[in-house]
Amino acid sequence: MASIDSADHRAGKKMITVSAPAKINLVFQVAELANDGYHPVNSLYLELDLRDRLRLVPTVENQAVGISVSSATLPARHVNAVPTDQNNLVYLVAEKMFSAQGVKLAGFDILIDKKIPVAGGMAGGSADAAAMLVGCNHYLNQVHGKKLLSNEELIELAKQFGSDVPFSLLGGLAIGTNRGEKLRQLEPFGFACHFVIAISHEGLSTPQVFARFDEIGQSSPFSDLAIPLTDIQQLASMMGNDLEPAAITLLPSISNTIDVLKLSGALKAMVTGSGPTVIGLFDDADLAKKAAETLAELGLIGIPALPSYLGTRLES
Ligand code: C5P
Repeated sequence: MASIDSADHRAGKKMITVSAPAKINLVFQVAELANDGYHPVNSLYLELDLRDRLRLVPTVENQAVGISVSSATLPARHVNAVPTDQNNLVYLVAEKMFSAQGVKLAGFDILIDKKIPVAGGMAGGSADAAAMLVGCNHYLNQVHGKKLLSNEELIELAKQFGSDVPFSLLGGLAIGTNRGEKLRQLEPFGFACHFVIAISHEGLSTPQVFARFDEIGQSSPFSDLAIPLTDIQQLASMMGNDLEPAAITLLPSISNTIDVLKLSGALKAMVTGSGPTVIGLFDDADLAKKAAETLAELGLIGIPALPSYLGTRLES
């Protein structure tokens, strides 16, 4: 490629914006620890309309990549917990994608706008990694003329960065097996459902929750998650999370949050993923809104959310 000076470099490059969704696990069945250090899982994943946005903003040609994180909706502890150095998963994704193409990683900054709780069991870090995979794919194509990788190739790459990253890319409704990364996409729900996401004051570390799960030793047999669901009651009775007892022993206040959601009319309230975020399922939007208000009155954060079927996508 012809060399370009810094001004041309900036002028010729557009900002790339990608957004990626939060996930919840409607069903999370977990088996005993396997020899590879992971727990085989059987999970029903659902995307919610709560999205992180990641921007690749052009700088000068050889300038090192900087990362900044902000949020208009989450308390400061979430933003403060995200590394802005080379330990951030998005940096590792960029490093891998650029070196695979023989391109020096430089010339843009990464701005992360967070809506997904950090360390909340909603795959916030995985969403950002998925957004970076898509962002780098387009950047390398637009700026360096590299061939765009296919969605299949991106999903293959995604597995290296965490068990939830492939689902963050794909989105929608899907069954996840093995570590959660082996996906089978299902048809969207044919009925309306509303969720309230109750965000805890503290985070939980995924490995710590899995380790406590090992100590408790309470796994359930895997069931067939591909049954077509016809109504919300059927969904409510199917929902469950094997990691919930482990998360509650690490953070007992989770039980109160579950009770508040149930008393507010949730058909089901439970921990999602490795927690501590609690989700409530409602059949009525007003009821969900009121439940979120009740959580706020108690000093908790409740966010109403809906199922979504977009996956990670380029916005501009
Ligand atoms: O895959 P990911 O890096 O997101 O997982 C973080 C940690 O969670 C793993 O290192 C492992 O301790 C635990 N984990 C697990 N079984 C899974 C997924 C994650 O034990 N299926």
